[in-house]
Amino acid sequence: MCGIVGAVAKRNVVPILLQGLQRLEYRGYDSAGLVVVNEGKLQRARSTGRVSELTQKSSTTLGELGIAHTRWATHGVPSERNAHPHLSSEQIAVVHNGIIENYEELKQKLSGQGYAFTSDTDTEVIAHLIHSHYKQGKSLLEATQAALAELVGAYAIGVIAADNAHQFIAARKGSPLLLGVGDKENFVASDMSALLAVTRNVVYLEEGDVVEINLDSYRIFDAKGNLVNRPLMVSELSNDSVELGAYRHYMLKEIYEQPQALANTLEAVCNSKSLVPGLFGAEANEAFQLIDRVLILACGTSHNAGMVARYWLEEIAGIPCIVEIASEYRYRTSVADPKTLVVTISQSGETADTLAALNHAKSLGQQHTLAICNVPESAIIRQSKLRFLTRAGPEIGVASTKAFTTQLAGLFLLTLVLAKMRGRLNGEQEQKFLHELRHLPSALQAVLNLAPDIEKLAEQFVNKHHALFLGRGLHYPIAQEGALKLKEISYIHAEAYPAGELKHGPLALVDKEMPVIAVAPNDTLLEKLKSNLQEVRARGGELYVFADANTKIASSEGVHVMQMPEHAGFLSPILHTIPLQLLAYYVALQKGTDVDKPRNLAKSVTVE
Ligand code: G6P
Repeated sequence: MCGIVGAVAKRNVVPILLQGLQRLEYRGYDSAGLVVVNEGKLQRARSTGRVSELTQKSSTTLGELGIAHTRWATHGVPSERNAHPHLSSEQIAVVHNGIIENYEELKQKLSGQGYAFTSDTDTEVIAHLIHSHYKQGKSLLEATQAALAELVGAYAIGVIAADNAHQFIAARKGSPLLLGVGDKENFVASDMSALLAVTRNVVYLEEGDVVEINLDSYRIFDAKGNLVNRPLMVSELSNDSVELGAYRHYMLKEIYEQPQALANTLEAVCNSKSLVPGLFGAEANEAFQLIDRVLILACGTSHNAGMVARYWLEEIAGIPCIVEIASEYRYRTSVADPKTLVVTISQSGETADTLAALNHAKSLGQQHTLAICNVPESAIIRQSKLRFLTRAGPEIGVASTKAFTTQLAGLFLLTLVLAKMRGRLNGEQEQKFLHELRHLPSALQAVLNLAPDIEKLAEQFVNKHHALFLGRGLHYPIAQEGALKLKEISYIHAEAYPAGELKHGPLALVDKEMPVIAVAPNDTLLEKLKSNLQEVRARGGELYVFADANTKIASSEGVHVMQMPEHAGFLSPILHTIPLQLLAYYVALQKGTDVDKPRNLAKSVTVE
């Protein structure tokens, strides 16, 4: 999703801006641009290609003040004319993340004042609006504040003026933005990872903040215009682990990192003899005693993790659980219950819908909030009382892999802690689960060894247009995750169904052109699943079955069986995820799609 970097320094800031954009590339974007002030003039470069193309285009651009942007189109097609920064009268330049909802109305007003629009974006109105105030003699700060007062919607912005060589303005409402503080140089970015090469000192801006940034000082004003102090923190984000190394794609690297990511995530329980609520924060013990239900809010892959957790929480901990798509929950009239534990799951911790759903849940009086998240300094972490950090390390591939399996590990721990507190887990069971968790990284490593077979299998999907994924019980959400992975990166239309539902509709789609992928653990639903597979075979459907050892499902004409290890009990969904990730990866690879940056998608969706 859109990224912002801004800098003021006593050196050329162009390399800083470009490096920052490069670090934000993983979020997904369709165009990029930057603007600097050079001898009283704005110098801009934009490109619809990669940041590397922008680097070539800006090889002669120089300046000690600049703002830069990667765009993910919302208003107006991806094109150079719609790429940010947007200018007004060659005087004001703006980069913007978010969506301005009243931009049409503002555009009409500004056109009436003689402003000519050169793009189809909502952002351009911000540039003209600021200019309309600036030309009346207001300072850049005042002009920006006046313009912001007229905007409806969400924004994080950076603003510079041609006649202001060492000062810029930034502001946020609804979209993330932070200030990086250097030694006689200052920066802004939408994500701390963009600034790690230049500073670790960070001020997280709050909702409605506007900041005036100079070479060796800055002033922050809150939404009411009062001068405020925000804490200066030292970021602990790791600057490494984002190199591709020997791998061809980040997605493959991240699939292979899963044993280590799980080991890191489970580190806290590996050496302990028992499970404690403190794993989720100091206040967890008290909070967990006060709740009698769980509400999980998330989007995309994180939502699929929540769906698995629902089976665990109800069966093992005996606690009622609802899982909702965050973008639905935030607008639905729901029945709130203060005894609910509100769990948000998010890799990035910045997903706009999940963040809004969390705040909506809180506004309804549900104060027991827990974030399961991969980014320690993210908004969702900061806005939740309790937290569990998945230690997957930076995830760069847009299609989430290691974040998902580590989220599952965190959710399983939550289940066990709640089960123990509710008297549903005796000492022996606790030890057994702890043992299984410790064994998980090596079990997962064994599944990764299936990669060469799956690569071969993938050849049979390359010319398909549709695929159906089946699972039952705990593994139905895994079938959903498999379908999501395949559609995200190979662009093959894929749907998942609980296998028992096949006869109520999807069976009509089955013929020899429809590959059917089945997740077949050796659990209590195995015999039921086998009957469902017969239904598919009888209609000429080609079956691809990921079967645990001892399921007695054999390969035959039209039935391709991939042998998984022995059944892993409640942790089986984590193992069954791996072959589906690999399948999606190898199909996409053979189709030649952009695996790490699939078309139209973004890694971190910070707008609604
Ligand atoms: C985007 C990503 C998905 C991700 C979803 C939720 O759509 O492309 O991979 O699952 O956002 O993201 P989150 O960071 O909240 O887990």
